[in-house]
Amino acid sequence: MWPYPKIVAHRGGGTLAPENTLAGLRAGLAHGFHAVEFDVMLSRDGIGMVIHDPDFGRTVGGQGSVATSTAAELAAMDAGSWFGPAYAGVTIPRYTDFIAYCRAEQIWMNVEIKPADGFEAATGEWVAKMTRDHFPEELAAGDPAKLPLLSSFSYAALAAARDAVPELPRGYLLDRLPDNWLAQAQALGAVAIHTNQRHLTAAQAAAIKQAGYGLFCYTVNDPARAREILGWGVDGFCTDRIDLIGPAFA
Ligand code: G3P
Ligand code: MG
Repeated sequence: MWPYPKIVAHRGGGTLAPENTLAGLRAGLAHGFHAVEFDVMLSRDGIGMVIHDPDFGRTVGGQGSVATSTAAELAAMDAGSWFGPAYAGVTIPRYTDFIAYCRAEQIWMNVEIKPADGFEAATGEWVAKMTRDHFPEELAAGDPAKLPLLSSFSYAALAAARDAVPELPRGYLLDRLPDNWLAQAQALGAVAIHTNQRHLTAAQAAAIKQAGYGLFCYTVNDPARAREILGWGVDGFCTDRIDLIGPAFA
């Protein structure tokens, strides 16, 4: 039900490096992580970029947005200075940069499809097809453990990913479990439910596991809470505190 790593570095290297950057991946590796979650959004010219916010202002300075900038423009933008001067010049990566790094270092990927408003289906389809193109042998082998796991809060994005490349595994991201979560997960052909650890209850965890789904939580930074939800049957979670909760945490 969950053939993937149990502890996953959130947004690259959690809070130890600028999120969604190659520097983040390096920080994760330095802490022994071979599993990462990150966010992918389409540029104006339809290229997947690794970034969380649709609008500039937080990790990228100035005004503007991902969906109205080209990939070349985005790839030249400083996504490191906000974190600290040592990271000045760290840029917004393309999804393909992350794939290359993760393949080279054998890092498992939970790829969160993070569409800007109005680009849900386009983003889901693009991420699925690009992932398919980079994992041909793994797809042919049919071993889910060797494949990235696509996830999204957007039903439309996951439906588009399913339609484009049905054989890539999908996780359905839900902040709070709605009453119809099971019907939606079934319709999406999801293999896992990804949910906010803040709102998860033991009874919900049991229901998800009983229904045969993997159960993944975001974002767990407190070791005591981590132990509690693992005791409920949670299969894995991502963490910002890669320094506090290591890859072998139990
Ligand atoms: O994929 C889990 C988690 O990353 C979802 O929240 O806002 O950090 O992308 P966010
Ligand atoms: Mg995310």
